[in-house]
Amino acid sequence: MFLLIFPLFFLFPLVNSIPVVCYYILNQPDIKELPNNLCETIILINSAHISENGKLEYREEDLDEFSHAFKGKIEFFVSITSSNPSFSFLVSSCPGVRMSAFPSFQTSNTTLMHEFSKSVNSMLSKYSFNGIDIDWEFPVWSRDAKKTDRAQFGPFLRILKSHLQPSGQKLSVAVSGPPTISRVAYDVDALAKYADMVQIMNYDFHVFNKLTNPLVGFNAPLHPMRVEISVLGEMNSEASMTTWFDLGLPKNISYFGIPTYARAYQLLTHYLHKPYSPATRSRPELTNYPDVCIFADSGYYTSVWNHNAQAPYLYGKDGLWVSYENERSMLAKMAFARKLGVAGVMVYSIGSDDFEGKCGFGRYPLLSKIAKLAKDER
Ligand SMILES: *[C@@H]1O[C@H](CO)[C@@H](O)[C@H](O)[C@H]1NC(C)=O
Ligand SMILES: *[C@@H]1O[C@H](CO)[C@@H](O)[C@H](O)[C@H]1NC(C)=O
Repeated sequence: MFLLIFPLFFLFPLVNSIPVVCYYILNQPDIKELPNNLCETIILINSAHISENGKLEYREEDLDEFSHAFKGKIEFFVSITSSNPSFSFLVSSCPGVRMSAFPSFQTSNTTLMHEFSKSVNSMLSKYSFNGIDIDWEFPVWSRDAKKTDRAQFGPFLRILKSHLQPSGQKLSVAVSGPPTISRVAYDVDALAKYADMVQIMNYDFHVFNKLTNPLVGFNAPLHPMRVEISVLGEMNSEASMTTWFDLGLPKNISYFGIPTYARAYQLLTHYLHKPYSPATRSRPELTNYPDVCIFADSGYYTSVWNHNAQAPYLYGKDGLWVSYENERSMLAKMAFARKLGVAGVMVYSIGSDDFEGKCGFGRYPLLSKIAKLAKDER
C-alpha cells in the first residue's frame, strides 16, 4: 500500500495557488456583485485616458457614451477593495481612447514622462488604486508606431517605476501574444527590471481580414495544429510563452493570458467548416460566452473539439462559425500554465464570461473553472 501511494507524491506534488488577474471593461455589462473570490487583482479598462498634454486623466464627462455604465462604478470597486484587503485594483491606461500616438510622442521626451508619471500617481491615490497597467498595442508594430518605440519604452518604464515605487504602487504591462510582434516590440530586459507583472495576451492569434485573410481560425489555440507551418505554427499560446521565456522574461512576473470571449465568422459555405475555411465576414455581435453557449447546446449547430489546438469551435447550416472557450479549454490552458511555472494567470475579461449563469453552469463558469484550478482544487 505504502509503495503504491508513495510515488504519487512525486507525480502530483503539492502546488501553491497562483493569483488570477482579471480585466474588467467599464462599459461592459453592469455587474452588481463582483466575483471577488475569483480574482485577486482587477484591472479596470476604459477607466482613464491620456489628455492632450500627456497626462493620465479620469473624467466621467469625457466618456459620454459610457457615462451611464460608468457612474459610481469606480466608487463601487473601491468600496469592495477596502473591505477585502487581499484584493487589489489596477487602472489600465489604454492608448487609443483619446490619443492614438501614446506613448510614442511621450517616450521621446523625459519631461513628459515625468509629468505623465506624476499624474498617474495622483490619480492612483485619488481613487485608492494599487497600480497601473500599461496597455500599449503595440510599440514599433502598430500603424502609428515609431521604430524608436522599443528603445524608448525602457526609459519610460524606468521613470514611471521611479514615481510608483515610493508609494508601493504596482507597475503592470500588457504585452502581445504573437511572437511576430513580441520579438520586435519590446525591450525585455527593461520589462524584467521595472515591471511587477507582465500580462501576456495569449489571444487574437487569428485576425480576419476581408482582403488578406478571409478565413476562419482559432482565437486562442493552446498548441499548433499539424497543418500550421512557419509563422502560422507560432500563432498559439505555447509558442507565445516559449518566445517570451527565450527572450528572457522571468517566469515570476509572467501572467499567462486566457480569453473568455469568442470570435465569430460567416462561412462562405457551410460545407467547408474546418479551421482555415473561407469566410465572408466576421460577426462581432457574438463575442460573449452566454451568446455562444446556447448554440453549442442547440443540436442545430455542431461543436467540434480540436485535439491539437485544445480548443473548441462550432458551426451551423446557416454558415455561422465560432471559435470560443469552454470549461474543457480552460482546463487545458490552466494545466499548461501551471506546468510552465508562471507567476499567475490573467483573464480577459470578466464581462464576456456568463456572469448571470444563463448557460446553466452557474455564474461565471469559465472564470470559476480558472479560479478553482489556480487554487489547485479539483
Ligand atoms: C519636452 O516637452 C516639454 C513640455 O511639453 C517641452 O517644453 C520641451 O521643449 C520638450 N523637449 C523636447 C526635447 O522636445
Ligand atoms: C523574481 O526573481 C528575481 C530573481 O530571482 C528576484 O530578484 C525578484 O524579486 C523576483 N520577483 C518577484 C516578483 O517575485
